[in-house]
Amino acid sequence: MRHLLDTKELDRARALRILDVAEDMAATQQREVRKLPTLRGKTVVNLFFEDSTRTRISFEAAAKRLSADVINFSAKGSSVSKGESLQDTAQTLQAMGADAVVIRHGASGAPQTLATSGWISAGVVNAGDGTHAHPTQALLDAFTVRKRFFGDDSRGRDLAGLRVTIVGDILHSRVARSNVWLLATLGAEVTLVAPPTLVPQDVSAWPVRVRYDLDEAIADGPDALMMLRIQLERMNAAYFPTEREYSRTWGLDAERLAALPADSIVLHPGPMNRGMEISAAAADSPRSTVLEQVANGVSVRMAVLYLLLAGERTDAEEDGR
Ligand code: NCD
Repeated sequence: MRHLLDTKELDRARALRILDVAEDMAATQQREVRKLPTLRGKTVVNLFFEDSTRTRISFEAAAKRLSADVINFSAKGSSVSKGESLQDTAQTLQAMGADAVVIRHGASGAPQTLATSGWISAGVVNAGDGTHAHPTQALLDAFTVRKRFFGDDSRGRDLAGLRVTIVGDILHSRVARSNVWLLATLGAEVTLVAPPTLVPQDVSAWPVRVRYDLDEAIADGPDALMMLRIQLERMNAAYFPTEREYSRTWGLDAERLAALPADSIVLHPGPMNRGMEISAAAADSPRSTVLEQVANGVSVRMAVLYLLLAGERTDAEEDGR
């Protein structure tokens, strides 16, 4: 693997390979000494142009547990125009000898630009770009679902037969986009539920079913319900009347939680708006996988960094294609 930019580019075999290596990584994290020497001498740069808590810390923990050197570069607030600042920053990182660059950027496509520009030779991992993609989040979500339903040793298994329903602000969500493609590739059945104003126009080209009533979607008995954060920072218009109205119609309250099938699970990528898209009762219930998602995120990112920096490469990738 040369870069990880999007889940759309992952076929089933590659996606499973990442999940299976993540399972190996998770096993090493049960040991007393959790640090592996695998990436000793490699430098991983976290290049974050957008706010982040868990994703940045998660990549940092993952790189450190593999013994890589980590440089955190928080570029938020830079006033230089985006194209220029990205090129300048990239060339600085190249000069410092970065082997992998983990980038989060407000502009959709920035990681792709970095990977294909020729400015750097490092592998690029997309840690979230605009509303476009967030592949490691989708991978950790799939890993979490697989682990909950098929147990700790589920290597080689995809998600066929499982029904996953993604609820809320689909329009602004890179998490939803990356999940839709990965879940479909892994054989899960995906349903989106959202107010019509928060459903993207191109959704007809996605491998999903769209519904507009959360109670009906819950009555259908999904295996996993993924609640999305309302991304107020990306909203330049009123997409719903009031926050109270949103939570009443689209929020996972205690009543809706109780209406879910007994063995179903509830995911949320964080950060949560408690009381808005998800109630405290739902967030803290045994069905909630929120903290498992965070823990699994480290294993999945270890797997991605490992495959990028120490893993096998195809001939085409060796040639830098
Ligand atoms: C997500 C993101 O930044 O896209 N958060 C995350 O990475 N854990 C989702 C969000 O911000 O709502």
